Amino acid sequence: MYHLQKKEYIQKMFAGISHRYDFLNHFLSLGLDKYWRRFAVALLPSGLILDVCSGTGDVAIEASKRNKVIASDFCYEMLQLCTQKIKNQNIGNVVCIQNDAENLSFKDETFNGATVAFGIRNVADIKKALSEMHRVVKKGGKVVILEFSQPENKVFKSIYYLYFQKILPFIGCAVSKKKGAYSYLPSSVIAFPERSEFVRLMKEAGLADIEFHDLTFGIVTVYSGVKL
Ligand SMILES: C[S@@+](CC[C@H](N)C(=O)[O-])C[C@H]1O[C@@H](n2cnc3c(N)ncnc32)[C@H](O)[C@@H]1O
Repeated sequence: MYHLQKKEYIQKMFAGISHRYDFLNHFLSLGLDKYWRRFAVALLPSGLILDVCSGTGDVAIEASKRNKVIASDFCYEMLQLCTQKIKNQNIGNVVCIQNDAENLSFKDETFNGATVAFGIRNVADIKKALSEMHRVVKKGGKVVILEFSQPENKVFKSIYYLYFQKILPFIGCAVSKKKGAYSYLPSSVIAFPERSEFVRLMKEAGLADIEFHDLTFGIVTVYSGVKL
């Protein structure tokens, strides 16, 4: 798929499932997504944080417990839900800004940390998004990325993939009433770079001291890197 076509497809897809996004996230991950996000947020430094591809804002809200946060996403419908949640929960230190991860509208070295959860896989140009996160973070600041991975244990992987490729798309489609979105999820995870390749992309974007942690049998991986 061409770059612009993918961008448009992704934006429309999330707009279409936005009303069911949170419910399906928690339901399909059996609530594990909350733990994954908490783990990623705990790796962030204190200060001003940018949450890229923030969607309905769960990472931004978690990070706001000890930071000021900007939640950014290019999908208006997702950000509207984020804004509503912040209002409902009376959170004063999160601001939502519509923004493209590949072309962030923030000045160089603005943030103490930047993070993206389940978003980097969806951007059309991963290298550009990584270099943008690197650009807007201050020297000594950190970039933390949470993304789905392919489990390495073959037995676990075969059981998990039965769920991930067959059952999850079926439930996702039935609940969201959108056919493609939850089939796109497993196929985009399979197409996403392996851990070592993704670490290479982070290095190429200028990040150093890169670490990664597999969670829940390697269903997801949390990557972190520092801007020197
Ligand atoms: C799977 S959701 C993740 C939302 C949230 N971070 C979470 O943890 O639930 C992916 C989000 O990435 C956003 N996204 C994809 N490509 C983007 C881009 N180029 N710029 C900004 N947001 C983008 C989508 O609109 C969507 O809200």
